[in-house]
Amino acid sequence: MTIFFGGLGLAGGYAAPVMAGDPEAGRKVANMCRTCHGIDGFATIPIAPHIGGEAVEYLESQLMAFKTGGREHEMMSVVAAGLSAQQISDVAAWYASHRAVATFPDGVSPSGAPQACVSCHGADGISQLLDAPHLAGETNIYIDTQLKAFKRGNRQHEIMSDIAAELSDAEIRAIADWYAAVTLEILPPAE
Ligand code: HEC
Ligand code: HEC
Repeated sequence: MTIFFGGLGLAGGYAAPVMAGDPEAGRKVANMCRTCHGIDGFATIPIAPHIGGEAVEYLESQLMAFKTGGREHEMMSVVAAGLSAQQISDVAAWYASHRAVATFPDGVSPSGAPQACVSCHGADGISQLLDAPHLAGETNIYIDTQLKAFKRGNRQHEIMSDIAAELSDAEIRAIADWYAAVTLEILPPAE
């Protein structure tokens, strides 16, 4: 089987998602996002997350959640309601085509990373999973807000709801400050 498909050069085609996004089309859609998330996905307002270099799977799932009401936010619910499934795939492909790079400023090191989080979000805040976001360099306001939303049930996820439920508000604050102190750089797609 493998040899047969491989010989025809079709294996990649069969493996591709049905609605594969087109990053160039997504760049145009991103003009609707840039006032808050930047054209490269480096957010311009403290309540919006950096989204450049996130996995396409994560970006698509969150946009679909905003669109279908599984996740709610006064700004994003309106934005996502206006996007078609194809536009969501395209804009997710655009932002995912960037690369997120974390570095540590003086006084911050991976050994200080919150141990309960590193297996999925990384000791530098760069996610280890396709369905989990990076936390590096997000503002403490954004991280704090999301953890409290999971804790109180306004945002729901099988893993994160349980994890956040165990955290005190003071622990949430400390964790948010730690990931916010990591320096994030978002690099453009390779030409
Ligand atoms: C008016 C500002 C604004 C605009 C415009 C906007 N966003 Fe957002 N976006 C936000 C805010 C604020 C949040 C955080 C929502 C929350 O707190 O749950 C967010 C969250 C997100 C998330 C979730 C990321 C994560 O880490 O969970 C994605 C993905 C996203 N936006 C994509 C987009 C895309 C794609 C567009 C354009 C089509 C867009 N946004 C336009 C403000 C904006
Ligand atoms: C087993 C894997 C796993 C562990 C451990 C884990 N997370 Fe998560 N985290 C996820 C996944 C998956 C998501 C995406 C949730 C969704 O789809 O809404 C997420 C989402 C988040 C978000 C939302 C970020 C955004 O961009 O919207 C925050 C904040 C977060 N996690 C913080 C933490 C913290 C702090 C810890 C440690 C106390 C932790 N997580 C431990 C898997 C994990």
